[in-house]
Amino acid sequence: MNKQPFFISTPIYYPSDRLHIGHAYCTTIADAVARFQRLAGRDVFFLTGSDEHGQKIQRKAAENGLSPIQYVDKIVASFQMLWEKLGVSHDDFIRTTEARHHEVVQTIFQKIFDQGDIYKAAYEGWYCTPCETFWLERQLTEGNCPDCGRPVERVQEESYFFRMSKYQERLLKHIEEHPEFIQPVSRRNEMINFIKQGLEDLCVSRTTFDWGIPVPFDRKHVVYVWFDALTNYITASGYLHDPEKFARYWPADIHLVGKEIVRFHSIIWPIILMALGVELPKQIYGHGWLVVEGDKMSKSKGNVVDPVLLIEEFGADAIRFFLLREINLGQDGNFSRDALIKRINSDLANDLGNLLHRTLNMMQRYNGGALGATEAPTEMDAGLIEMAKALAPRYREQMDRMEINAAIKEIWQLIGRANKYIDETEPWILAKDPAKAARLNTVLQNLLEVLAIVSVLVAPFIPTTAGRIRSQLGLESAVVPGAMERLGNFGADGQFQPGHRTGKPEPIFPRIEEKPEEAPAEKPANQQEQQPEKHQVAAVAPEGPAEITIDDFAKLDLRTAKVTAAEKVEKTDKLLKLSVDLGSEQRTIVSGISQYYSPEDMVGRTVIVIANLKPAKIRGIESHGMLLAASDADRTMLSLVTAPDLPAGCKVK
Ligand code: MSP
Repeated sequence: MNKQPFFISTPIYYPSDRLHIGHAYCTTIADAVARFQRLAGRDVFFLTGSDEHGQKIQRKAAENGLSPIQYVDKIVASFQMLWEKLGVSHDDFIRTTEARHHEVVQTIFQKIFDQGDIYKAAYEGWYCTPCETFWLERQLTEGNCPDCGRPVERVQEESYFFRMSKYQERLLKHIEEHPEFIQPVSRRNEMINFIKQGLEDLCVSRTTFDWGIPVPFDRKHVVYVWFDALTNYITASGYLHDPEKFARYWPADIHLVGKEIVRFHSIIWPIILMALGVELPKQIYGHGWLVVEGDKMSKSKGNVVDPVLLIEEFGADAIRFFLLREINLGQDGNFSRDALIKRINSDLANDLGNLLHRTLNMMQRYNGGALGATEAPTEMDAGLIEMAKALAPRYREQMDRMEINAAIKEIWQLIGRANKYIDETEPWILAKDPAKAARLNTVLQNLLEVLAIVSVLVAPFIPTTAGRIRSQLGLESAVVPGAMERLGNFGADGQFQPGHRTGKPEPIFPRIEEKPEEAPAEKPANQQEQQPEKHQVAAVAPEGPAEITIDDFAKLDLRTAKVTAAEKVEKTDKLLKLSVDLGSEQRTIVSGISQYYSPEDMVGRTVIVIANLKPAKIRGIESHGMLLAASDADRTMLSLVTAPDLPAGCKVK
């Protein structure tokens, strides 16, 4: 195999409770990086797993009346189910309770003991069980754990110690000589300061509980859970059992971890490896924390967000996209339902969804779904083509630097440019003139090329959607490993030749209605009928509106009207400005249907209009009348009521 190897890991999660959206955040990042590296042609080994030993788990199991293994089996199954739902593409899932891992931990503990770097002594100090961390008196914050702020317990036991102090200078030198070793830089500086304060030898065994890996030469002791947990990275990459695999993937390229456990990974772990004579990982990347509405998630605050429920409500790709797009990797980021819905609506339903829908709709309407003969591109196409060609290399650089949200922004700039290109090239006008068929097809071909590039580049972030876009484009749905290589070739691969058939346009991300309790109402209730952001006809509530008489109905002046021109209202997601012919007069109507109909879809349609609706100003435009449309309860589908066989101005009764 001559592909370059790439090994990325997530932390292994404690199965002390079910995972929340913060854990899903970390794994989503690792998954996006793993998928990107596969796209870039690397041979990826992506590892995740569960950290199943320790006092905290033993206590939790007892509280639940279960043996530790019964307890962790149940929770670990929920982790695996979550990763499957979230579309996580790990190559291995390691459990620290597996025999392969026990063997490695015992072997290395013995080796380090034999060489004199582990020794026995009395330990007296403080222990934070939730963090499974030893602290010295002077390190406590007002008597509590300096990491999580919770109370610590006094521990007095005979223990084995790991001679960390011996390796302090070597580690410091390594960190100083390898600026990329700890990232981002702020974490690196923190670690340098921490080490410079002096490293104490670390207590690496416990005797007061037994849920752990026994010390091989002294069975009263179990191995300290962090020594056990960190070792997972070499167990899974074959240190003891598969030397060929180990030679291929080790050292790891990135251990991705949350900021609070950078210390374990960039101090304890490298020193274990130094003691073993094994190369150090290339990078420890410490990401920020996800907070909820500005607050740290905790059970006691009742603000823990369950990723499974979110996936069920919004779909895995929407959640992945939000986490990757919204947050700067090294910094803390905020999760809120409101921001999630806004992001889905603006980027996925609107920008990406519209580009796909508009393009495929035009392919259907003007070409019956098959691309026709094209001609040479014009100057009007040059800007779009240049931007598309330049995207892949820029994206690659950003992804290599772990600037994930910047890479996503870059793709969306191209999407925005392509939407603008449709408005500039006006395919609906080209379609009216048979002499312009080749030009129309060139425009469509360029749009298909852009969408194909986008479908590859978004695959690490929204893999299911990428496949759906590709099948609608009439391409192989899977994005093949190494696909990035050819992306700068705009058009040269000839994947959209005359005769190429595209599929039926199907919405990839339905818009989500922002409920009043989640987003402040924009208009008073008595002006509801004029709210541009609402669809005109909502699904009827089960109890139904109040009865009306025929005279009430007769008050409505419903008429057929032909749409003569349509354009998007600038800086809005939902609004179209329509010019309509009512037979006897021309009107302007602003309608909130832009996520379902593109301007070119609208021109030529005969719709039904409430003609005697009082005019209203919507985004500065006087709108006189309203279109009738029907939508399902959650507004995933909306269809205009039309009368295609009638001229404008007919009365609807
Ligand atoms: N078991 C140890 C890791 C051992 S790795 C050899 C552990 N487990 S954990 O379940 O408590 O945390 C796992 C990861 O989840 C950590 O990287 C932690 O930072 C991350 N997160 C937990 N809550 C988080 C947020 N709210 N936001 C982002 N990441 C968070 O530590």
